Amino acid sequence: MANIELRTMRAEEWGDVAALICDSTNGWCESRGRPVMFSGPKQDVQVFCSVYEKLDPGCCVVAEDIVTRRLAGSCFYHPRSSHVSLGIMNVHPDYFGQGVASRMLRHITDVADRTGKPMRLVSSTLNLDSYCLYNRVGFVPRLIYHDMILKVPAGGLDCEVPGAERVRPATAADVAAMIELEWEVNHIRRENDLRYFVENADGIWHVSVLEGRGGSLDGFLVSIAHPAIRMLGPGAIRTEDGTAALILAELNQHRGHQPVWLVPADRPRLVHQMYAWGAINCELHFAQARGEWSPPNGIVMPTFLPETG
Ligand SMILES: CC(C)(COP(=O)(O)OP(=O)(O)OC[C@H]1O[C@@H](n2cnc3c(N)ncnc32)[C@H](O)[C@@H]1OP(=O)(O)O)[C@@H](O)C(=O)NCCC(=O)NCCS
Repeated sequence: MANIELRTMRAEEWGDVAALICDSTNGWCESRGRPVMFSGPKQDVQVFCSVYEKLDPGCCVVAEDIVTRRLAGSCFYHPRSSHVSLGIMNVHPDYFGQGVASRMLRHITDVADRTGKPMRLVSSTLNLDSYCLYNRVGFVPRLIYHDMILKVPAGGLDCEVPGAERVRPATAADVAAMIELEWEVNHIRRENDLRYFVENADGIWHVSVLEGRGGSLDGFLVSIAHPAIRMLGPGAIRTEDGTAALILAELNQHRGHQPVWLVPADRPRLVHQMYAWGAINCELHFAQARGEWSPPNGIVMPTFLPETG
């Protein structure tokens, strides 16, 4: 470990970090006999660098082997006004079990501790390596999520859902209400992220909102369509019916494709609605928090890019 130094990712390293994320994640999956996470070109995975750097420039810590000049690990983090969230964490298989992840994590928990902020992340329940890593520094699993997948028919899903008539695409004028709704439902604030999704300068995002009474919002749900990641979330919604209506609207943005999304396991009616549409489980995730946390006032749908919990 003496030969490992931590520093901030450089702009010219996006390709190396993308390759590291692929080799680490796919290597871990293969060693457990699971299907690989990233099956396309490694360079597609640079989307993690481009999205995270747009939202939080300079917040990717890399671990460099100063003898070989190889990148041994990388981890993104997001200091927000209410909390610090931890993004994708990776160590190259050649460096597994040598304390590289623990050092990067300690670097990030120090950032949170200096500002007195709680932390959030989403981690796979099937990955004891990352579970132990996070648990040892004080993360507590708070919510369990079903990872659900569904091949959306080319003509879209044709289902009846109460409230569907109140769902529409978000506009810039909705962002202030989305910020307040997420604060009320999930007790976090991340103004830049929500503005960035709705602006959609990259052309990979779509956001639906659920109109409430008197011009208020009862929910929003974002989704990303990119070769490296096709996923619904983040979302914050007041009711289960509203969540189903927003999921349906966002699934229909992915016609002919198979997105993944996270549904809270403690909402069986919602989960069974997803089964009725043909969705199946592919994994389980924990939403974890370190420090202050309160149960959601509604439904929270986390995502892996940018990570929230
Ligand atoms: C998960 C991952 C990042 C861990 O990286 P790593 O560098 O091998 O981890 P470390 O060597 O720092 O070990 C992590 C900690 O877990 C501890 N640990 C490992 N197995 C443990 C177990 N069964 N019980 C308790 N603690 C355990 C280690 O002792 C270490 O703690 P310490 O530093 O306080 O001693 C790495 O396996 C990886 O990149 N996997 C693929 C991608 C991935 O899963 N990322 C996380 C997504 S949520």
